[in-house]
Amino acid sequence: MNNIVERNLRGRTVFKNESSLLRGFLPDRLPRREREIARLARNFKPLISKDGAFSVNVAIIGNAGVGKTSIAQYFSKKFPEAASKKDRTIKSVYYNCYNYRTKSAILRHLLTKHFNLFSAQGYSDTELLSDLMTNLKKEDSHLILILDEANVLGSEAILEFIYLPESFEFGKSRISIILISRKTEFNALLQVHLSERLSEKIELKGYNEEEMSEILTYRAELAFHSDVLTPEVLDQVISIATQTQNARHGIEILYNAGKIADNEQSPHITPDMVRKAKAYVYPELRPSLLEDLKLDELFTAIAVARNLKHEKVVSTSIDWTYDYYKIVCEEYEKKPKAKVTFRRSVDVLADSGIINKVVESIPEVKRGRRAVITIQEIPAQVLEEKCTDLLSIKFFNIEDAN
Ligand SMILES: Nc1ncnc2c1ncn2[C@@H]1O[C@H](COP(=O)(O)OP(=O)(O)O)[C@@H](O)[C@H]1O
Ligand SMILES: [Mg+2]
Repeated sequence: MNNIVERNLRGRTVFKNESSLLRGFLPDRLPRREREIARLARNFKPLISKDGAFSVNVAIIGNAGVGKTSIAQYFSKKFPEAASKKDRTIKSVYYNCYNYRTKSAILRHLLTKHFNLFSAQGYSDTELLSDLMTNLKKEDSHLILILDEANVLGSEAILEFIYLPESFEFGKSRISIILISRKTEFNALLQVHLSERLSEKIELKGYNEEEMSEILTYRAELAFHSDVLTPEVLDQVISIATQTQNARHGIEILYNAGKIADNEQSPHITPDMVRKAKAYVYPELRPSLLEDLKLDELFTAIAVARNLKHEKVVSTSIDWTYDYYKIVCEEYEKKPKAKVTFRRSVDVLADSGIINKVVESIPEVKRGRRAVITIQEIPAQVLEEKCTDLLSIKFFNIEDAN
């Protein structure tokens, strides 16, 4: 047994720096996002000028994997450094609102981790905020609060972060905010309330082939030894990721393909390893999650995926998807269910996190609301492929028939 362990520890690896492909790694450069980072810097420049008593609130918006979190974290690292050269103290703190879901949770963490408050127990939000403002004033510093996935927090809490500090110290704002959100959620949940308080909305588009190529070439160089990937194999990864315009898609394929190569003790990553890796990525889409779905729910998932893919839109409605659903049923020669049942399938998919459903208000219609369907992290293409595969194995025995 020992030998197996030892052999595997000694074994060759294609990775030069494996952790550079893991989530949470921030590369030194973010090629093709220089312009957006420059825009952030220009927006926040007033905080550095001596009389800067402004607060700057900016939103970064875009689909999954386009670099929203990365540019915010990059800026969060570099901006305070630049400010300190001009004798300004800027603190920049990042929160993912999936992990810190309320204003209280954020304030408590902020004060105990970044402002030496021993314990936040027993304080109200107002007391905590007041303590925060006192601290900022004492240090003569400015806080940039980065709220990622800000829609989870909601516009009310965000607005309190914007308004309340203003009432503490007349004429001086000491808190600025960078909001990050996917576009659909931003439009549905945040836009209406916040837009007039935002100095700028920076919208990131998905990466095209040329951009993806530059990004993945750089990331592969960081991660792998020099002769691991041939240009052809790298192109294969680039072309898969370009379909979803999502850099994370490409990075996760590189990582998984590298792991497969190490497992097989191969010095190279082959096209076949990339194909295998492609089937693994998107851990959000654990096979078991899909395997639990009923026939009609799989049809519904395919319908959502196709709808978003074919129309090249990021969000859709129940009515729109229902038309796609009927076509999918027809292809599999099954009778489509009524719209009520279809709605229930949509809810099942939303509850398990495979798709995302938000209810937005329709401004033209008083008290009008409509459900907006999006797919969060999983590219439509991937969702469709996985569901189609599963259908053929589970319900139609297509593999057996061959
Ligand atoms: N321009 C870029 N250069 C290098 N890596 C990038 C770039 N854009 C995105 N990435 C990488 O792609 C992955 C997804 O980026 P991320 O910032 O998390 O996207 P988002 O927050 O928009 O979903 C991360 O691993 C990130 O390091
Ligand atoms: Mg992100």
